Amino acid sequence: MVVQPIGIDPPGDLPGTQESAQKRPLRIALISIYNHRMLRPSRPAPISEMSTIVPGEPLIAFKDVHIGFDEGEVLRGISFEVWPGETKVLLGESGSGKTLLMKMAAGLMRADAGRIRVMGHNVEEMPEHELLDFRRHLGFVFQEGALFDSMTVAENVAFRLREENVPDAEVHSRVLETLHFVEMESALDKYPAELSGGMRRRVSIARALVDRPPLVFYDSPTAGLDPVTSQTIITLILRGRDLQGVTSMLATHRVQDAFGLARFRFDQAADRVVRESNNGEQPAGQQNHHEDSGPTNILVLRDGTIYFEGAAEEMLQTSDDYLKTFLASAE
Ligand SMILES: Nc1ncnc2c1ncn2[C@@H]1O[C@H](COP(=O)(O)OP(=O)(O)O)[C@@H](O)[C@H]1O
Ligand SMILES: [Mg+2]
Repeated sequence: MVVQPIGIDPPGDLPGTQESAQKRPLRIALISIYNHRMLRPSRPAPISEMSTIVPGEPLIAFKDVHIGFDEGEVLRGISFEVWPGETKVLLGESGSGKTLLMKMAAGLMRADAGRIRVMGHNVEEMPEHELLDFRRHLGFVFQEGALFDSMTVAENVAFRLREENVPDAEVHSRVLETLHFVEMESALDKYPAELSGGMRRRVSIARALVDRPPLVFYDSPTAGLDPVTSQTIITLILRGRDLQGVTSMLATHRVQDAFGLARFRFDQAADRVVRESNNGEQPAGQQNHHEDSGPTNILVLRDGTIYFEGAAEEMLQTSDDYLKTFLASAE
C-alpha cells in the first residue's frame, strides 16, 4: 500500500486543554505519502446547467430544522452553514442524528420543519424529479459503504458516469484515474466481497468522487475501521479536498478524524501531506471561504441540538465537561 496514514496519537491521549495540547501535541508521524504516479485531476466543468455554487452564499444552510419519529424529535432546531471549500465535521454519539442531517441535506429525507438550502436550492421545496437532478451534483459515501455486490470495483465506480451517459472511453479513463487516486486500481476486476473493509471504503470514496461533485457527504467513513486504516481514509478525504476542491460534510464519532482534517493538508507542490502551519486557519490557495470560517469546522450534535460549533483547536481549549469527555473518550 503506497499511502501511509498520518499518525495521530491514540484517542485517550488527546489533550483537553490548550496547555496540555502544547505539552503533548498530537504526534505527527507524518510519512511521505508521495505517489509519483498520482494523477492530478483538473477542476471539472459542471455536469449540467444546474447551478451549484451561488456567489456570496453558503453551499449549505440549515435554518431551524426539525425532524422526528414516533419516539419523538431527533433534531430540534438545527441551524448552520457550510461555505465553499469548508469541511464540516459532524461529531456526535451514535443515534445523535448525523446520518439524518446529511440525508436531509441531500434531499433523501424530508425535514418536518425548517429551511434547508443547498447549492442555491430550497431542498425542502423540491419535487422528487428535481431532487434526482440535484443529487447528481452530490457525492455520497454511505455509512455502510453500499457498494453493489454483483458489480466489480470498476463497474461500481463507473455507475454514476453510466447513468449520465458518459461515453465509454471517458468512463474508462475516469474510472482508472479515480481508482488510482484512492490507490485501488489493482482491484479493478474484484468484487466487493473480495475486499477488506478499508478497501471497500476506498472504492466508495472513488465512486463518490468520480464525477467530481462540488459537494460530498461522507457518512461515518471510518466507522468500523481500525485506527491506522481510518487515518488512511482521512488522508484520502483530505486529498480530495485539497486537490479537487471538494466541500464536504463528514460524520464521525472519532474526534481524531476532525483533527486529522484540521491539522493536515495535501501540499500539491510537495506532493505529500503536510501539517497545517497555521493551526487550521485558512491555508493559502483556498480563497473561497467565507471570511469567518476556517477550512475545517466541527459541529457537535447532542440531544437534538448543536452543542458546539467551531474550529478543532477551539474545541481543544474547551472547559466544557461534555466536550472534554468526548475528547477523552473517543475510541
Ligand atoms: N427512518 C427512521 N425511522 C425512525 N427512526 C429513525 C429513522 N431514521 C433515524 N431514526 C432515529 O433517529 C436517530 C438518529 O439517527 P441517525 O441519524 O442514524 O444517528 P447517527 O447517524 O448519528 O448515528 C436514531 O435514534 C434513529 O433511531
Ligand atoms: Mg449514522
